[in-house]
Amino acid sequence: MSLERIKELTKLLNQYGYEYYVLDNPTISDQEYDRLMQELMALEEKYPEYLSPSSPTQRVGGVVLDAFKKITHTKSMLSLGNVFSKEELINFDQRIQESLQKPVEYACELKIDGLAVSLVYKLGELDYGATRGDGTTGEDITHNVKTVKSIPLTIPYKGDLEVRGEIFMPKKSFNELNELRKKDGVELFANPRNAAAGSVRQLDSAIAAQRKLDAFLYMVPDALDYDCITHYDSLQWIASLGFKTNPHTRVCQTIEEVWAYIEEYSAKRSELPYEIDGIVIKVNDIELQNQLGYTVKVPKWATAYKFPAEEVITKLKDIVFTVGRTGQITPNAVLEPVRVAGSLVQRASLHNEDNVVSKDIRIGDYVVVRKAGDVIPEVVRPVIERRDGSEKKFEMTKVCPKCGEPVSREEDQAAYFCHNPHCDSKKIEKIIHFVSRDAMNIDGLGEKIVEQFYNQGFIKNIEEIYYLKNHVNEIIELDGFGQKSMDNLIEAIEKSKQNSLEKLLFGLGIRGVGAKMAEVLAARFKTMEALMEAKYVELININDVGETICEAILDYFREDENKALIRQLKELGLNMTYLKETNFRDDTPFSNKTVVVTGTLEKYNRNEIKELLKQLGANVTNSISKKTDYLVCGKDAGSKLEKAEKIGVQVITEEEFERMVSE
Ligand code: IVH
Repeated sequence: MSLERIKELTKLLNQYGYEYYVLDNPTISDQEYDRLMQELMALEEKYPEYLSPSSPTQRVGGVVLDAFKKITHTKSMLSLGNVFSKEELINFDQRIQESLQKPVEYACELKIDGLAVSLVYKLGELDYGATRGDGTTGEDITHNVKTVKSIPLTIPYKGDLEVRGEIFMPKKSFNELNELRKKDGVELFANPRNAAAGSVRQLDSAIAAQRKLDAFLYMVPDALDYDCITHYDSLQWIASLGFKTNPHTRVCQTIEEVWAYIEEYSAKRSELPYEIDGIVIKVNDIELQNQLGYTVKVPKWATAYKFPAEEVITKLKDIVFTVGRTGQITPNAVLEPVRVAGSLVQRASLHNEDNVVSKDIRIGDYVVVRKAGDVIPEVVRPVIERRDGSEKKFEMTKVCPKCGEPVSREEDQAAYFCHNPHCDSKKIEKIIHFVSRDAMNIDGLGEKIVEQFYNQGFIKNIEEIYYLKNHVNEIIELDGFGQKSMDNLIEAIEKSKQNSLEKLLFGLGIRGVGAKMAEVLAARFKTMEALMEAKYVELININDVGETICEAILDYFREDENKALIRQLKELGLNMTYLKETNFRDDTPFSNKTVVVTGTLEKYNRNEIKELLKQLGANVTNSISKKTDYLVCGKDAGSKLEKAEKIGVQVITEEEFERMVSE
């Protein structure tokens, strides 16, 4: 009897909650809702054995964690490329049409200014919610997700399902929250996004529960597996499951229609009850999305139109020069500190001489400053009308600001370089990069300390980091270093020797090899030795490796100095192999082959075969190109099969695939 009532109350409260929070259309009064909630709480207290983790009573918060658990995403959570003008939008469309050889339909959505969340449901219940983190691993925020009333705790679909979307704080909740904080004398949140992020990253879910967060869901990874043909279908499907989707999404047939949508919502932006920072444009057909595929960082089938950034005026006090690790000399604006888009700006890169000269930026000018992509500050232009004649014309430095050697500029390049191989700045920057977080991640060796140790002769180059332990006695004599902090530092340095290959590879600072590319290379070659011996064809055949990077890698390993550095690091005991858990094999017919799967297979679903191929050492991609070695083809294959046949990619059936595996 009581179990039945619990079930009935749960159902009613879920339904009323859905009507209130998702549909924005309540059908009962708040008092009635509260009364039912009280009744359910009382029953659950009396019969704790009937309490379900997805009961609506679990939304009030109260779970307090010690630390966040890490969650590895089933599929990377990527960010989006940007366009800032109609022209760039048209280019985006043209690239897509060129690649697919036909016009496509787009789904246009509001870009909600909150933080990305991944929700995973198993057997119809919310299993966990996670933040995006670095895209590969995020943090488990299930306890806080449950307090977001518009996120369903149970859904009628009982298979495994992941949906992704954005948690945000409505403008009204944000204003109320800041009002309260003002009264309490606590620091105000700069914007609703920070407030939402701050709430979701709390260990105590009672805080998130008070914060009135909301969520729009905007994506189902691998939607084809759920028989959704278009992105728009997938949104309608998840809406039918009880998720809140944004009502302003619109399918557009041409890029002109997309632009009209952008103009319409640029105008309506301020009337919306939540903040948006742009418009997201996605190829609607999911099969076409898969054909277009991804770059290392972003999908090629979507982009974000970013609204123009907030601009402010401030005084440019000086222009100073810095030297990067490649020796590149960069002019930088020293600004009268000014607040832009929520933070204080006092420095901005001016990039190179041409940029300063073409904009005619002078020392002493009032300048327009904004944040490009709302992150990096940028000097847009001088305010000519405010000049009083005291401004000084810009002159590019003739010598390196650090070593004093003359600098020069290649004919077809914008940048000046210091070519002195012994230039201190270059060396310091190289060391700073080597120890930085995404590289060897040596805690306790911040930029200032590296510079100090360099100037005092303790670390003059990368290998000497590992000899720092010989100087401990001298260093603790200096101000600011104790035995304890030095012990920690030496321990961090020793520990870094165990890092997996990609960290070292990124730390070397090979031109074009960023953290993601280092990961791709390390996963593929497994050892430094194998990478050093890699031939041009092996490199260029890797998805994501273009010609420039390929040349840069080969050039790097041709230099004697670099080879010597790697030899010394090896002798010092640094690990030179890829340590991440991969069961990848290099002895199967699919090892190091690029494979695409299409059509319906009998024995495997899409994820299973992809996973199996990866374990067999294959690089599985979504679209057919000249780099594809095999297309594994099931029933009802479409354009991929056509394309494979056209460009001569070897097509294998499911049986052939199995035969090759068993052999
Ligand atoms: S789609 C693979 N759609 O924008 C594509 N993202 O700059 C994944 N965002 O990290 C993103 N509204 O947090 C998509 N309607 C929308 C969005 C949206 C906001 C956020 C999201 C993402 C960031 C990318």
